[in-house]
Amino acid sequence: MTLTKLRQRSLLGLKDLSVEEMESILDRAAYWESHPAKAHSVMQGKFAANMFFENSTRTRFSFEVAEKRLGAEALNFSAAVSSVQKGESIYDTVRTLESMGIDVGIIRLKPIGMLAELAEKIKVPLINAGDGNNEHPTQALLDMYTMRKHFGHLKGLSVTIIGDVLHSRVARSNLWALRKFGVNVNFCSPPNMQAPELDVNYISMEEALKSDVVMMLRVQLERHESGMLSSAESYREHYGLTVERAGRLAKHAIIMHPAPINRNVEIDDELVEHSQSKIFTQMENGVPIRMAVIERALS
Ligand code: CP
Repeated sequence: MTLTKLRQRSLLGLKDLSVEEMESILDRAAYWESHPAKAHSVMQGKFAANMFFENSTRTRFSFEVAEKRLGAEALNFSAAVSSVQKGESIYDTVRTLESMGIDVGIIRLKPIGMLAELAEKIKVPLINAGDGNNEHPTQALLDMYTMRKHFGHLKGLSVTIIGDVLHSRVARSNLWALRKFGVNVNFCSPPNMQAPELDVNYISMEEALKSDVVMMLRVQLERHESGMLSSAESYREHYGLTVERAGRLAKHAIIMHPAPINRNVEIDDELVEHSQSKIFTQMENGVPIRMAVIERALS
């Protein structure tokens, strides 16, 4: 495979992907959602390696479901029970699986920039399943798919991403992708959880509640320096989507969250499965989106 073709088939992020490329993934996901029975032999005989160097439930399992729906063989690598524990590097691990003949690698990593370096050296398409706080492209694609399905379009929507933007790859991928579709994206965050390098407006919770979409983010305690969060109660009071605040959303507005969720911190327990919440629909939509992304990588 030429280097250009390899890069076209990999999915490292949405920052550099065109609207046409993203639309083609969303359209193909819609096809797979409505024609699941046609998928089973599309990737027969192909091997997909799910290499997660950070924990995951949704992304890892929906990639595996997507691979199996397409008829591919799913190989699941878990850093905790691998030779990484003996000191083997991430590069040597990925290179090892490449040498065994995998056709595509799905990778979640903590260090920012490492995925781009791997993609320069590894000769099979790589799909970003989340790298540090940089990008989580398949999450943003499934988020856009969910919005497009609900509203019928993306252009002109107002989306406010609320919470721990500083540590969020979901916020970054959504910001870069949604803007290309003509969506008005704003952030709402405590001052110590903002991302100063991003050129985006920060608005108040009052303003945020006027949006078509409120996308709540998990407070990522595992990435915090000590003292970032004074208390869960205080965070909920100032930046949480409480039942009272949700009551002020427009009737057509939707609530989103990439999950996992800190219930009663960034979102009240009662709202997770509220009639305006799309949280479990987002998870459901992750499967056809990942089918489309894997097919694009292997086709
Ligand atoms: N939304 C998301 O990436 O969830 P996981 O960390 O469980 O994969």
